[in-house]
Amino acid sequence: MPDAVPAAATTATIALEVNGRVHRLTVRHHWSLLDVLREQLDLTGAKRGCDRGECGACTVLLASRPVYSCQVLALQVGHRPVVTVEGLGESNILDPVQQAFLDNDGAQCGYCTPGFVMSARALLDDNPHPSDDEIRQALAGNLCRCNAYGRIIQSMRAMRDAAR
Ligand code: FES
Ligand code: FES
Repeated sequence: MPDAVPAAATTATIALEVNGRVHRLTVRHHWSLLDVLREQLDLTGAKRGCDRGECGACTVLLASRPVYSCQVLALQVGHRPVVTVEGLGESNILDPVQQAFLDNDGAQCGYCTPGFVMSARALLDDNPHPSDDEIRQALAGNLCRCNAYGRIIQSMRAMRDAAR
């Protein structure tokens, strides 16, 4: 968790656009985007798994590309828009990727799911009809400790095939 009281010499004020809304925030120089999302904005969809760029649980979209938010300093974001899992879909309507995970039992404990959903969303925005190999490649940076990979891939396949 970020330190509660910022020291002026090590802080900066930033304007961070998250899910279409701009937030003016005072952050410490070393705080990651994940720190700020979870601790300052209460957006807890992105999860802290390894905190060192290995598991993908913290994946968000930065300027439409999937990134590990634990590996991006809040100060590095600049004017690039951030989208978290909370920013998908509309009120009471899931994003089709979320719905596909739900319909195909794509989650077990669910801890990794927001990260997978964001990586999947980025893939489908780029390539609405990915091959199985392209799906596997796009999700290769996300780990699932419950070993739900089969259902996760099935969720993606079902969504792709429904869109044909
Ligand atoms: S928490 Fe960021 S990659 Fe694992
Ligand atoms: S569903 Fe539990 S870690 Fe992936």
